[in-house]
Amino acid sequence: MQFPPDESGYEAWLRYPPKSAEGRAALAPFLWVANRVDDLCAGSALCEWARAMRGWGVGKLIIAASEETAGVVFALDRNLPAEGWRVEWSGDGRLRILGGGGSGLLYGVMTVLGRLQTGAAPAQLAGESAPAAPLRMLNHWDNLVADPVHGSIERVRGGDTIFDWTDLTYPNPRYEDYARMLASVGVNAVCVNNVNAEPEILAPETIRGLAALAGIFRRWGIRLWVSVNFASPVFLGGLRGADPLDPEVAAWWRAKADEIYAKIPDFGGWLVKADSEGKPGPGTYGRGHVEGSACLARALAPHGGTLFWRAFVYGRSLAGRGLPERVTRDRANHPVYEFRDLDGCFDENVILQVKCSAVDFQTWEPAHVLFGLMRRTRLCVEFALTKEYAGLDVHAGWEAPYFRDVLNFEATGAAADGGGTIAELVARRELPGAIAAVANVNNSRNWFGHLLHGASLFSFGRQAWAPRVEARRILDEWAERTFGATAAGGVAEILADSYDTVASYTMPMGLTYISEFLHHFDPDPWENHQGAGIGEDGIGTDRTMKTGSGYIGWYPPAFAALVENAETCPERVLLYFHHLPWTHRLADGETLIQRLYDGYADGVATVGEYRRRWRALLGTMDLERWAHVAEKLALQEQHAARWRDLVCRYLAEVSGVADKRGRFSARMPSPHNRVRTAFWKAVADYKARVAKERAQMGAEGGEESRVAVK
Ligand code: GCU
Repeated sequence: MQFPPDESGYEAWLRYPPKSAEGRAALAPFLWVANRVDDLCAGSALCEWARAMRGWGVGKLIIAASEETAGVVFALDRNLPAEGWRVEWSGDGRLRILGGGGSGLLYGVMTVLGRLQTGAAPAQLAGESAPAAPLRMLNHWDNLVADPVHGSIERVRGGDTIFDWTDLTYPNPRYEDYARMLASVGVNAVCVNNVNAEPEILAPETIRGLAALAGIFRRWGIRLWVSVNFASPVFLGGLRGADPLDPEVAAWWRAKADEIYAKIPDFGGWLVKADSEGKPGPGTYGRGHVEGSACLARALAPHGGTLFWRAFVYGRSLAGRGLPERVTRDRANHPVYEFRDLDGCFDENVILQVKCSAVDFQTWEPAHVLFGLMRRTRLCVEFALTKEYAGLDVHAGWEAPYFRDVLNFEATGAAADGGGTIAELVARRELPGAIAAVANVNNSRNWFGHLLHGASLFSFGRQAWAPRVEARRILDEWAERTFGATAAGGVAEILADSYDTVASYTMPMGLTYISEFLHHFDPDPWENHQGAGIGEDGIGTDRTMKTGSGYIGWYPPAFAALVENAETCPERVLLYFHHLPWTHRLADGETLIQRLYDGYADGVATVGEYRRRWRALLGTMDLERWAHVAEKLALQEQHAARWRDLVCRYLAEVSGVADKRGRFSARMPSPHNRVRTAFWKAVADYKARVAKERAQMGAEGGEESRVAVK
């Protein structure tokens, strides 16, 4: 069997392999004479153009003296939105690519090259586009110093951080390639370090390095943010506390902002995780989110910087509000009580960053209610490409269909009050927000640890640009650009429902938290089942208005009514909203427990089917990439079977109901592989560290930030 030359996956979808003589002939007449535009990003666009022409074997790019003599004309048109582009094909062998600004031109060029990659004819290139959300951002959860529990990336496997934190000024060509990759899908903002931020991110020597990185990103239209530790004035500045109302603290933040902007004039700003999972915040000093965010935002404001303030806050006492225990017990309610009353109170340059779902990034969690409740606040929706609860870099799971659901969720009940979807809310002209995702990128040669996870990043960029586009269209394009036309259909078929498949053997029907505490990779329902509401009487979390936590009541009425009733609630989220007896009958007459058993079994069988389909793709692509994915799928099947056997054994044990097909029972051997010793040691170390930090922070015993086990 003949294979094309091996590839490592490093080029991701930006591959320009030599075209056939026919393909070259189609391009040659006009595409290799271009003009130059005096703009940084336009310069990058020209380089990318040259790279493609060279790769395709069309020829060496010739720089025309003027627009008149160019075959492909690059130009700026200030009538277009700054990041927008338009492509015109005059039919006389001249292609014009216009950008509202340099980055718009760059996006236009990237789009045209993508289309040429998939064989579009010149006449098909004409078009026009502009992004929906003004900020399309990636959040790296990368640590400056590898953490003993998480490594150099929070909970993420498959590799270490791509950033060389010991010396960011070292000219690593990878940074430029990373920026190219992001620009090719329209990402224009990157926050480079973990939200669990180390204070040293603001140390002078780190800032010097960040300036070098920002210089590279700038060429590709990307601005840089960093996550900061709220108690930095203590850790770095030697102040006694970080009370946001203390003038000395405010002055420290101002000076820090001035120092950064002197080196990075287009610096984006800061991202803050405060009063969350043991992190310091205004609550540490008896203050609230508005005062806390204002202190930092006002330091950034004179420079045009933006502060992202995270709403992922839970576990703090909801005491004093007279709320019943059934309400306070539900973690999904916590951010609602924490932030709802603050709508409209934040400074103008503050964006409230809200996870796509309220508990955490559970596999298929319904959209967060805060988007509909905070209509006078600038909002950012935060997704996770990391698959923290969905098999990390081992399981193929393309989550774009889920993201599409969330982005197009009618958060405000549109019909009633002219409200909007989450995508519309974050893109409001008067309250501009952002779409962010936790990055799934690491230093493995293929960027993602799992080659197929490139589809996730590619799709995220595209969805942040145009949230309504059919996810499948994006997938088809990614597959063709990454693997070529012959393999594309087969690859896309495997990925199309892959996220549903992962959900079906991990946390199906809206179940939450049955994985182990440490990496959230393995199942451990024995230790971790309260979050999923599992007990002898049944399974699921009662979030109904009638008998449960009332979380459903925060949704717009039509959606609330749909999910409040277990008979009409979609099965995909049934156990997120309802606690039901094991033998509850579903619409088709099957019992709930049997549906779970069957779902776990079918999910694993589907992975087996993916493997068979992948084997059929042998010969349609290079052997190196084929073998890499084949190996990953084999691991996925093994690990999926582990999830199935452990969880189903547990369900049989707790429910006392046997699988009618005889596959699962409480007598099955329990292949436990708990990492208890390492885990509890890590927890003890963590608590000791937090206690020490709190003492250093000069916490005044304001509202306690709970030292949570993350
Ligand atoms: C989850 C995750 C943590 C992360 C946190 C966050 O809890 O497990 O590792 O720090 O989310 O988003 O801040």
